[in-house]
Amino acid sequence: MSMPVASRKPVAGVGATVAVTPAKPPRALERCFNIADLREAARRRLPRGVFEFLDRGAEDEVSLRGNREAFERIKLRNKVLVDVSRRSTATTLFGKPLSMPLVVAPTGVAGVCWYQGEAELARAAAKAGVPFTLATPSVTSIETIAAVEGGRKWFQLYMWKERELSYGLVKRAQDAGFEALILTVDTPTSPIREYNRRNGFSMPFQPNPRALFDMALHPRWLLTVMARYLANNGMPKLAHYPVGAVSRMTPGGAPAAPSGSLPNLRGDELNWDDVKRLRDTWKGPLMIKGVHLPEDAARAAEAGFDAVIVSNHGGRTMDSAVAPIDVLPEIVAEIAGRIPVLVDSGVRRGGDVVKALALGASAVLSGRPTLYGLSVAGEAGASHALSLLRREFDATMAFTGCTSVGEIGPRAVWTGRK
Ligand SMILES: Cc1cc2nc3c(=O)[nH]c(=O)nc-3n(C[C@H](O)[C@H](O)[C@H](O)COP(=O)(O)O)c2cc1C
Repeated sequence: MSMPVASRKPVAGVGATVAVTPAKPPRALERCFNIADLREAARRRLPRGVFEFLDRGAEDEVSLRGNREAFERIKLRNKVLVDVSRRSTATTLFGKPLSMPLVVAPTGVAGVCWYQGEAELARAAAKAGVPFTLATPSVTSIETIAAVEGGRKWFQLYMWKERELSYGLVKRAQDAGFEALILTVDTPTSPIREYNRRNGFSMPFQPNPRALFDMALHPRWLLTVMARYLANNGMPKLAHYPVGAVSRMTPGGAPAAPSGSLPNLRGDELNWDDVKRLRDTWKGPLMIKGVHLPEDAARAAEAGFDAVIVSNHGGRTMDSAVAPIDVLPEIVAEIAGRIPVLVDSGVRRGGDVVKALALGASAVLSGRPTLYGLSVAGEAGASHALSLLRREFDATMAFTGCTSVGEIGPRAVWTGRK
């Protein structure tokens, strides 16, 4: 996949222009040969509070580490003497094409990693031929993302206690032409992340000496992200949160949750009775994200969801959660082909995508990899992350003797002695 060329296009609702993508790959990417390199470059560039917010997990980070350990435990088998000279990473989901079986996951923090980061990420996804998911707690509005040229746009919903506010977002996403809706159900309360408190970083941002000192130590980020917001549109706002509750990342908004994460407007009384109305309202594909139990997956299929996403939120919510890749096979068996099953949490190599597909997933979602890239070089960095994952996925397809995504099956992996 080639790097994006120079562009300077107006995007409705986000000020005069969007960030410029340089004509040749930015120097910052020249020595980023894999996602781990991008992570390290992002770590250097971002204020510590921002980096840890995007990179780390909940509590003791057992889930976070477990996600990687689970992928690393699964081994691949090659298939020899197969002509793989002509192969394709393309597939379809909900009847529409994907250049590879990967979706950019909803991540509320993209707009803090880079100036107008969500729009940059959406453009990178569109150019790479994969869907982009806009998160409820983003700083870019549904309508602004809808104006980004091309691509498949999905919206992620946190259902709030005040249901009508959430249904307002659902209507906006529908009116703006978003293709699919993801209901995230694994966060009934605020996750516990002590490092946010230590760093003085919260969403919405509450200025404090520690966080301001941290920012001052990262002048590049300060100048290219925060100063640009201040110069153009003022402090970034959480685009979808109710005005008067937590709409501004400034002092005077509602106090941050104790963990430093978003205030808990979510409905912790949310239950299966709520699903029917959502199903009746949303006309396109509807997905449920954060499922670990086969019986929950089965119930989701019965309730009319069009796909299940097996996820532990990248290890950011409940600690000691199962690694989604480990429980994927039993969920796939329970669903028995009724609806697609997607998986996320811990994908860092294209080979991980092959592992997920071999164990029955239709596609993976990827959260941090494109955020690392975005933090280093905006759209070009996110494109680079997607390009690296695609190249590795393609290579692993060849090693495992697959010329098409449909050929990736259980014989490509070894999960342990029975
Ligand atoms: C910084 C950050 C913010 C996130 N915000 C959201 C969110 O607002 N809604 C949601 O459903 N998932 C959110 N997620 C979880 C991702 O959608 C996804 O499940 C997770 O990142 C996958 O794990 P990975 O980062 O290892 O790829 C977030 C993840 C990160 C890293």
